[in-house]
Amino acid sequence: MAPESSTLSTVAKGNGALVAKLKDRTAHIGIIGLGYVGLPLMLRFSEVGYQVVGFDIDENKVSRLNSGDSYIERITARTIKGALKKGFQATTDFSRCSEVDALIICVPTPLNKYREPDLSFVIATVDAIVPHLRKGQIVSLESTTYPGTTEEELRPRIEARGLEIGHDIFLAFSPEREDPSNPDYETKTIPKVCGGSTPACLEAGLALYGQAIEKVVPVSSTQAAEMTKLLENIHRAVNIGLANEMKVICDKMGIDVYEVIRAAATKPFGFVPYYPGPGLGGHCIPIDPFYLTWKAREYGVHTRFIELAGEINSAMPKWVVGKLADALNMQGKSVRGSKILVLGLAYKKNVDDPRESPSIELMELLQEKGAEVAYSDPHIAVFPQMRKHHFDLKSIELTEESIRGYDCVLIATNHDLFDYTLVRKHAKLVIDTRGVYQEPAANIVRA
Ligand SMILES: NC(=O)c1ccc[n+]([C@@H]2O[C@H](COP(=O)([O-])OP(=O)(O)OC[C@H]3O[C@@H](n4cnc5c(N)ncnc54)[C@H](O)[C@@H]3O)[C@@H](O)[C@H]2O)c1
Repeated sequence: MAPESSTLSTVAKGNGALVAKLKDRTAHIGIIGLGYVGLPLMLRFSEVGYQVVGFDIDENKVSRLNSGDSYIERITARTIKGALKKGFQATTDFSRCSEVDALIICVPTPLNKYREPDLSFVIATVDAIVPHLRKGQIVSLESTTYPGTTEEELRPRIEARGLEIGHDIFLAFSPEREDPSNPDYETKTIPKVCGGSTPACLEAGLALYGQAIEKVVPVSSTQAAEMTKLLENIHRAVNIGLANEMKVICDKMGIDVYEVIRAAATKPFGFVPYYPGPGLGGHCIPIDPFYLTWKAREYGVHTRFIELAGEINSAMPKWVVGKLADALNMQGKSVRGSKILVLGLAYKKNVDDPRESPSIELMELLQEKGAEVAYSDPHIAVFPQMRKHHFDLKSIELTEESIRGYDCVLIATNHDLFDYTLVRKHAKLVIDTRGVYQEPAANIVRA
């Protein structure tokens, strides 16, 4: 639904007091879901002077934050302590939602086992906050989701409380755009898209984010904001799929795909470089496109680009394992019984996040084939508790001796902290899925 056109003044629309409080930063902000997205956002609102309450259902996270500790590598305990000094509090008590003027929802949106949207975290959050909502608040959803979620799932639940959207309470969707480990951008400098359920909702949304984020980009509806986020992530998934297909073709033809991408990237217009890899990882790119696939079915549309990219990208771990098996074979070895060290558990370089990491699928595929698998990741000391995966392993320190002890070193994630010269010098075989080595060597195989 597009925002209702309105010529009413801010006060008549009912958002006047809220907008004023947001603009003079006397408003209290509630962040729900204190993970990779919610925690940096909390810090940013605290930094610019708002009182912030953080809500999470994870008691361990809440107590760690309240005691000045951090559970995300790139956020220091000192930063959390600084926020506590400025009044930040974390809580599992959702009745405190009535204390704040803005509620920003940053909870997970995964896929279920049928690869369909699992909105259970969002719905559980809305059900938890609705009894405590009051007039004059804004609720903003940031979790990535399909177009229509805000209007179809949040709006009716809030209105069932007897609160009128756009008059009593204000509803927005503003997708998070994080790029963990990118030194060039931080929360405040990444422009933020925002759509409102009504013009008054959008106005409140712009007032909320406008204080904390340098550039807020208004769009005409919550659906447009939801779709914008999906387009961004689908654009990546499709182009990575193309890069992976090019990798497979180049491999067959004996052409260096990285040389080709680097050369193509010298074109000053009309080309954006994307790089191949061992498969998609992270909370977003492997998951978000399928939110649209699911929703598009309701409209009788088949999302062929998304499916094709998904097919190519999800075939990559098996393709890498095939290259690894061939390379071991050339050395008279089989995968069964070989000792294989996987470098990098995180899904991308220089982060500590293993969610949906292709490294884990590679480890499972190799173990299934009888390999003895180990990993090294300077950002993840112990293999973490995960819902679907388990390895009783600790990160191996990279030394001359440890590297020599493996039949194969598989570079899955190209962390800057790895000593690649040491690896090249001492490994019997290196499988390089990230184009780390530009010069060919007898013990290096690209995959
Ligand atoms: N991580 C990223 O880089 C990134 C980037 C853009 C968008 N997103 C999107 O942002 C959303 C959150 O992702 P994330 O990476 O921060 O996830 P996360 O798993 O790191 O954090 C989510 C937090 O929400 C909490 N939570 C779960 N259910 C809750 C509930 N009912 N009430 C309160 N808290 C609850 C969890 O305990 C956890 O602390 C997802 O939709 C994701 O797709 C993530």
